[in-house]
Amino acid sequence: MGLFLLLVLSILAVCCTTTSVPQKVPSHSPFFLRGCNDADMLAMAAFVLQDINNDLKEGYVLSLNRVSAIQEHRQDDLGSLFYFTLDVLSTTCHVLSKKPWRECKERLLHEQVYGQCKALYYVNMPLRILYLPAYNCTLRPVSRRKIQNMCPDCPIPANLSDPKVLETAIETLERYNRDSESGQYSLVKVTQASSQWMFGLSYFVEYLIKESPCIETEASSCGYQPTDSGPVGICRGSLGRRFEVKLVSMNCDFFKSQALTPGKRKFPVYQRNKKPAQSPSKAVLSGSVQYLPELDDEESQELDPAEAFPVHLDLTTNPQGEPLNADFLFRSPLMIKKLIVLPFPKEEQRSAECPGQAYFSNPIILPP
Ligand SMILES: *[C@@H]1O[C@H](CO)[C@@H](O)[C@H](O)[C@H]1NC(C)=O
Ligand SMILES: *[C@@H]1O[C@H](CO)[C@@H](O)[C@H](O)[C@H]1NC(C)=O
Repeated sequence: MGLFLLLVLSILAVCCTTTSVPQKVPSHSPFFLRGCNDADMLAMAAFVLQDINNDLKEGYVLSLNRVSAIQEHRQDDLGSLFYFTLDVLSTTCHVLSKKPWRECKERLLHEQVYGQCKALYYVNMPLRILYLPAYNCTLRPVSRRKIQNMCPDCPIPANLSDPKVLETAIETLERYNRDSESGQYSLVKVTQASSQWMFGLSYFVEYLIKESPCIETEASSCGYQPTDSGPVGICRGSLGRRFEVKLVSMNCDFFKSQALTPGKRKFPVYQRNKKPAQSPSKAVLSGSVQYLPELDDEESQELDPAEAFPVHLDLTTNPQGEPLNADFLFRSPLMIKKLIVLPFPKEEQRSAECPGQAYFSNPIILPP
């Protein structure tokens, strides 16, 4: 059993000094409503988000801003299926860095992307199983108008297809390669861009890079290199002009090797079953992040909160529920009991202690 999971379970088991009593309201509801500030629920929410981040293949690591709702569905003697609604923020770590979200810095307000995730989380303490069967998230960039009202001189998001953006990426990377003593890199794709007026228009871009066999002296003949190696790092570059002088700044972070260290695996079940080296993320049945455009101020006043950040996570529409195919979680194939998944509960159906405390309580980065 991984040390990490042991740690998780002991946190979940020991921490609960501030736990409120789960309520079942109305009494015929299958759900227990859990408090959004309870220490054990916050610990669990942190792992849910870590598992979501582990599953993502593109974009930036999401961090937890607050827990919006938690409903627990107890599965007789098989543990519980939790229905989490989490308000999240984008960080500066790319998901390929595989950094834990707690180690990642939130983006500056003017470049924030925020939203909501819904997730199913299965917890079985006696069998030491934590499992994320499904999640869905919806994100939007912060309203440009609200930012400009607060901070007229702040950078504003730039269109990633703006030729100036690509030019900034290429030029800063050329500069990096020229000074690089380790290796040569080529552009994979631009992931974020903004511009700001400072003695002229300056551009700030972030982009993924991969190793390139080109060397400096061949730079001009060095076209597109088809290679199967993935991105190895992310760079932040900026390009501005002051009078006729070009101002270039640039730094890159390299991803740690993607190899999974066995001690860190989240799903020890796989080890027990001796399944072939399967990444834990494969265990997620379904999950995706939907990016929507910024919310217009007027729009956000009129929109129903559920429409402002629509997140659907319905593995079933049957009010009686359906069995969740998770047999692989259990060691014994003779286990005949099934986990039952229900339609995702409505958010109104939540504890009076929800939503929980936000780390960043600025309303412009909180879903309504
Ligand atoms: C970005 O620019 C492209 C081409 O100029 C345009 O088709 C696209 O709609 C723009 N995207 C946004 C979000 O403005
Ligand atoms: C997740 O969201 C997508 C749309 O972004 C939707 O097509 C899909 O059905 C959702 N998944 C579930 C399980 O509801």
